[in-house]
Amino acid sequence: MCNNAGPEDYKAIIDKTVGFVKEHLKDAEGGHDWHHIERVWKNALHIAEKECTGNILIIELGALLHDIADAKFNNGDETLGPRIAGEFMHSLGLSESITVPVIEIIENISFRKQNKHNTPGSEELKIVQDADRLDALGAIGIARAFNYGGFKNRPLYETTELSGNGINTTVGKGNHTIGHFYEKLLLLKGLMNTRTGKAMAEERHAYMVNFLDEFFKEWEGER
Ligand code: ADP
Ligand code: NI
Repeated sequence: MCNNAGPEDYKAIIDKTVGFVKEHLKDAEGGHDWHHIERVWKNALHIAEKECTGNILIIELGALLHDIADAKFNNGDETLGPRIAGEFMHSLGLSESITVPVIEIIENISFRKQNKHNTPGSEELKIVQDADRLDALGAIGIARAFNYGGFKNRPLYETTELSGNGINTTVGKGNHTIGHFYEKLLLLKGLMNTRTGKAMAEERHAYMVNFLDEFFKEWEGER
């Protein structure tokens, strides 16, 4: 056991947070629902144990609260998630030594923001970010991508795409779910922070590459 046990009421804090998140996400889209949070929470605990670093309460709360109000489901409002999480943690009486780093995780976890600021971040952020990225990879990552594409009513794939000026674009562009693999999912393994996260990402990445290979063969009628 790497991490110390934390405050006396540790279990009660986690239990209340789980209840709060489940209730809050009860109508969420399938790729961003409580089950996503639970997988990220488990991944984060696994990585924290292997890496033996970070404050475990900050990691658990960061994982549990990281998608409490995702901006893309809230008219692009990036302040809502940190605000809801902050108010909830204050209602539990948690000190700023916990709430501030948890809010920092929620504000900085996403792919989009990471690209913008590219700051190194805390050990806890690195772990929760890896845990979240792992859930966008592998079999679950494939399932989530197509679920999100369905939610947005997007085609699976388009072979010929014409941009506004009539020029053909590559497979990586366009408003279809296969395009998302090239825009984001296949890049994630190169962005992992921790050794444990990288190793897990390698396996899940390889699985997606196989999937894409099979997908294109079937699409072309070669199988
Ligand atoms: P982040 O918040 O880190 O930027 P997202 O919330 O965008 O990550 O992604 C979460 C999940 O939703 C991932 O599994 C991702 O593949 C899926 N997703 C996001 N955007 C798209 C898209 N345009 N097409 C398909 N899946 C998507
Ligand atoms: Ni997430």
